[in-house]
Amino acid sequence: MLLFKKEKDLKAFIQQEKLAGKKVGFVPTMGALHDGHLSLMALSLETTDVTVCSIFVNPTQFNNADDLEKYPRTIENDIVMLETAGVQVLFLPSVEEVYPKNLTYPDFDFNGLDHLMEGEHRPGHFEGVAQVVYRLLDIVQPTDLFMGQKDYQQWRIIQSMLEQVDWDIKLVRCPIARATDGLALSSRNVRLTEEARQIAPKIRQILSKAKAEIQDLSIGEVKNNAVRRLNKIEAFKMDYFEIVDGQSLQLVKDKSNTQSLVACTAVYIANIRLIDNIILKAL
Ligand code: PAF
Repeated sequence: MLLFKKEKDLKAFIQQEKLAGKKVGFVPTMGALHDGHLSLMALSLETTDVTVCSIFVNPTQFNNADDLEKYPRTIENDIVMLETAGVQVLFLPSVEEVYPKNLTYPDFDFNGLDHLMEGEHRPGHFEGVAQVVYRLLDIVQPTDLFMGQKDYQQWRIIQSMLEQVDWDIKLVRCPIARATDGLALSSRNVRLTEEARQIAPKIRQILSKAKAEIQDLSIGEVKNNAVRRLNKIEAFKMDYFEIVDGQSLQLVKDKSNTQSLVACTAVYIANIRLIDNIILKAL
């Protein structure tokens, strides 16, 4: 696997590959890689010629200094995983490389996509995500970008960002990778105690119940049932549970007025915040 730390070296390499007619897949990550990330890499490896993974713990998307400090950093293990998976390129930039002085960004308008859910509960988070993804895309200039459905709101915001810039990049939404008991894979799962890990799959079970109910009940009833079920579990502290339009990410009251519906939730289990979602109605 090739390792690049400098923008100019990576750019020169990618330019060469693209000139040779190759499709370049890009998987941006913050490291602490797990099988969920590997499923994104696998899709890129399968459908493009060169897969570039970046590992950069982006300080501008953490609204909580403690969260940034505690974010797991497992670079040696990450490198072994990437090599084993057959990823061709790792981009491992420093903060100075990603954020040189006098850098400018387009003024994105996400038209409310960033207002609810993670946007409401983690102020500034999506500005940071959009900033770093824009910057990384500007450096890597891939043909295909792979992002996970687990961060549905992030995926949708990046889709909107790509609509606002003039780059020919195909965004691929990759399905949520789950443990056999249903828990969505996340870098935060390693911080769960054994007891918390046992109870965590209930998040997925409650989302699945919402999906089973959506045919017969109103949005309000489905939401109330899910909130009641989440609140009933003593170990959970629900941050939010929302049913939103899959495109506008606005709250939906009447399901007949929308083409796609997604239920999204964030739950604390002993201070570890987990997010998950389920598509109730696909476009
Ligand atoms: O989803 C993530 O891991 C991060 O938000 C991303 C997209 C790598 C940007 O830092």
